[in-house]
Amino acid sequence: MPETVTLCAAEEVVEGEIKQAPLPDGSNVALYRVDGTIYATADMCTHGEASLAEEGIISGKIVECTFHFGTFDVTTGEPIGMPCEVALKTYPVTIVDGQVQIEV
Ligand code: FES
Repeated sequence: MPETVTLCAAEEVVEGEIKQAPLPDGSNVALYRVDGTIYATADMCTHGEASLAEEGIISGKIVECTFHFGTFDVTTGEPIGMPCEVALKTYPVTIVDGQVQIEV
């Protein structure tokens, strides 16, 4: 059954930056703001042990993992550039009372 998790204040998610937030299972999500809308993906690159919040660069809706320069579309999780071939897990985001919530 999906569980709703409150991550942080929406204002903490800033265009051009990547905000890391912890999940109850010990993993992390990465939050991005693209054209005013907040998106959430798994924080770990699907190609290796890189945190996208710590090692990634967001440009528009594309995050680049600087370990091997693979890229993903953060709005869909789909891999865009090699060597990334497996999509990032994405989470539906809602804003409730100014707080970012996702379903996990
Ligand atoms: Fe991210 Fe290789 S670990 S591209």
